[in-house]
Amino acid sequence: MDIQDNLLTLADGNKMPQQGFGLYKVVGQETMDTAIAKAYAEGYRLFDTAQLYGNEKEVGNAVKKLAIPREKIFVTTKVAEENQGYQAAIDSVKESLQKLQMDYVDLLLVHWPIESSFFDTWRAFEEMKKAGLTKSIGVSNFQMIHLQYLATQANEMPVIDQIELHPLLSQMPLVQFNRDHHIVTQAWSPLGRGAVIGQDVIKTIAAKHGKSPAQVILRWHLQNGVSFIPKSVHEARIAENAAIYDFTLSDEEMKQIATLNAYHRTGREPELVYEYNKQY
Ligand SMILES: NC(=O)c1ccc[n+]([C@@H]2O[C@H](COP(=O)([O-])OP(=O)(O)OC[C@H]3O[C@@H](n4cnc5c(N)ncnc54)[C@H](OP(=O)(O)O)[C@@H]3O)[C@@H](O)[C@H]2O)c1
Repeated sequence: MDIQDNLLTLADGNKMPQQGFGLYKVVGQETMDTAIAKAYAEGYRLFDTAQLYGNEKEVGNAVKKLAIPREKIFVTTKVAEENQGYQAAIDSVKESLQKLQMDYVDLLLVHWPIESSFFDTWRAFEEMKKAGLTKSIGVSNFQMIHLQYLATQANEMPVIDQIELHPLLSQMPLVQFNRDHHIVTQAWSPLGRGAVIGQDVIKTIAAKHGKSPAQVILRWHLQNGVSFIPKSVHEARIAENAAIYDFTLSDEEMKQIATLNAYHRTGREPELVYEYNKQY
């Protein structure tokens, strides 16, 4: 198995690469071109952007310039809080598609749960899937309670929940809940934005396998069965992060890494974003 043929099947029957490429803070056309070219060459096929990142246009330009056939890649975007609500969400996704220069995205996510537009936004997502603007619909930063609440009115449940997840925030109960409900968990900040790399446990395991700390962390995600989307703008790291298919962590090592959980969030607390109706 390698990065390219490592696919997960979603509850709606669509297939998605387990490992993808994050695009948050990939700024500027030249940086975007180089990052996507290198990632594509290394076998990454999933590219994760968002309205919030302000780089959908650069993503579209890069894909066009590199002449990557649309069906070869899996593109995710996310609807920002300010664009939530039934009509606003639909209008914003049409604008995203224009920027991306694409007819559809493979996956559309509600970026954060917010109380004011909670059900209206999801109704728009169900309609946009029917209309072919997206192949799959999912959510991001939803906790168990948000998913349970959504289930009270949804016709279709999300097939993905993209959440902050790394060894310092392992979210085991939510990952299990998602598994039980046929929702694929996708880890954002899978490297903890660098915070996890310096942990002694990780460094020791890495030395034993002749791998880097980042590779050990990504392999941990891989063996946990979750999807994960590391970001880098450095070509050597883009290659390094893809080279995780030639070693295996033992059960003992998997457990050692899990003991690092410290409920350490690098991002916002979803329950508060829900209440405030915006990122605080
Ligand atoms: N849904 C959400 O709310 C949400 C929130 C945050 C992120 N995301 C998505 O998740 C993606 C990944 O998260 P993230 O970008 O926050 O964090 P991340 O992938 O965990 O870490 C990225 C950071 O680690 C560095 N890095 C990457 N590979 C490395 C390596 N091999 N060794 C050492 N350092 C390395 C990068 O620096 P360089 O670039 O300088 O190499 C960057 O500073 C984002 O790009 C975005 O697509 C979603």
